[in-house]
Amino acid sequence: MATTSCWFLVFVWVVWGLPLTLAGAEEQQGEGCSTSAKTCGNLTITHPFWIADREAGRSCGPLDFQVGCSNDSIPFLRSSGFTGYTGFAIMDISYKDRNLRVVDVRKEEDFNVSNSRCNFPSWNTSSKLALPFKVNPANLNLIFYKCTKRVALVEVRCVNTSNVFVRAGVRFDEMRNYVDYALEGCDAIVVPVMGSSDGANASHFEQLISDGFLLTWDPPPTSKFTGQSSFNQVRS
Ligand SMILES: *[C@@H]1O[C@H](CO)[C@@H](O)[C@H](O)[C@H]1NC(C)=O
Ligand SMILES: *[C@@H]1O[C@H](CO)[C@@H](O)[C@H](O)[C@H]1NC(C)=O
Ligand SMILES: *[C@@H]1O[C@H](CO)[C@@H](O)[C@H](O)[C@H]1NC(C)=O
Ligand SMILES: *[C@@H]1O[C@H](CO)[C@@H](O)[C@H](O)[C@H]1NC(C)=O
Ligand SMILES: *[C@@H]1O[C@H](CO)[C@@H](O)[C@H](O)[C@H]1NC(C)=O
Ligand SMILES: *[C@@H]1O[C@H](CO)[C@@H](O)[C@H](O)[C@H]1NC(C)=O
Repeated sequence: MATTSCWFLVFVWVVWGLPLTLAGAEEQQGEGCSTSAKTCGNLTITHPFWIADREAGRSCGPLDFQVGCSNDSIPFLRSSGFTGYTGFAIMDISYKDRNLRVVDVRKEEDFNVSNSRCNFPSWNTSSKLALPFKVNPANLNLIFYKCTKRVALVEVRCVNTSNVFVRAGVRFDEMRNYVDYALEGCDAIVVPVMGSSDGANASHFEQLISDGFLLTWDPPPTSKFTGQSSFNQVRS
């Protein structure tokens, strides 16, 4: 019986929900906003993310989810103030898992040892993030140290700085409490990286930063009955 009513709901959604959804989306996004997915580089950008129409230049969705497309090839989070040297570039989006893989391009720059701008940054990656985006707990962390003397960790040989070191494989802490990893006489910066086995090798810090890390997003508030959320309700 439960199964039958469940399938009935699916039927109702398919037959009635779809046209309603399209009408709702148009209404919500305003005239002139296309509801179809767009691409930037290899990535398909679709709800809740959106790319502004070049001509219209108007808001077509929640501002936090606006995506820019640098050089027609690199998608980035507009809300992160991306300039090419700062902000968050997007490498991948999993709409099903509400995850996106991003690169903190400023950290990539700051810890690029072949770069003359290599230096010890003054911000933790997480402090540049705002809701609805959160660091996914599955990431591991790199911790970079700027010390007054040498310590027994992998050294980061920046041109104009000395005594910079890095540790890898530090588990995510919801409260950002990394006191166990504090070193006397050192400033610390925490950078999340993908939680692969390689995420534990500090020697690969440049590659790890370039590979990015996972952010999770909270669904944008919606008062409307959308096809996506009703579908999830029926299935669960
Ligand atoms: C994009 O496509 C190119 C060519 O198919 C591939 O080499 C590259 O890895 C892809 N990038 C991403 C982020 O999937
Ligand atoms: C922009 O894209 C063009 C064509 O794909 C490429 O040749 C050029 O290197 C890119 N520039 C940057 C800064 O990525
Ligand atoms: C690091 O800097 C060098 C020299 O400026 C540049 O060629 C290289 O692309 C940079 N690497 C990354 C990952 O940004
Ligand atoms: C690095 O040090 C050299 C020599 O002291 C100096 O000329 C250069 O401007 C410095 N670069 C940065 C980015 O601070
Ligand atoms: C970065 O985070 C670590 C760990 O939470 C903290 O000890 C450190 O003071 C932070 N650094 C800055 C510049 O906020
Ligand atoms: C970490 O990477 C370095 C350089 O690639 C390698 O020599 C070392 O064996 C690796 N360490 C571990 C524990 O895998």
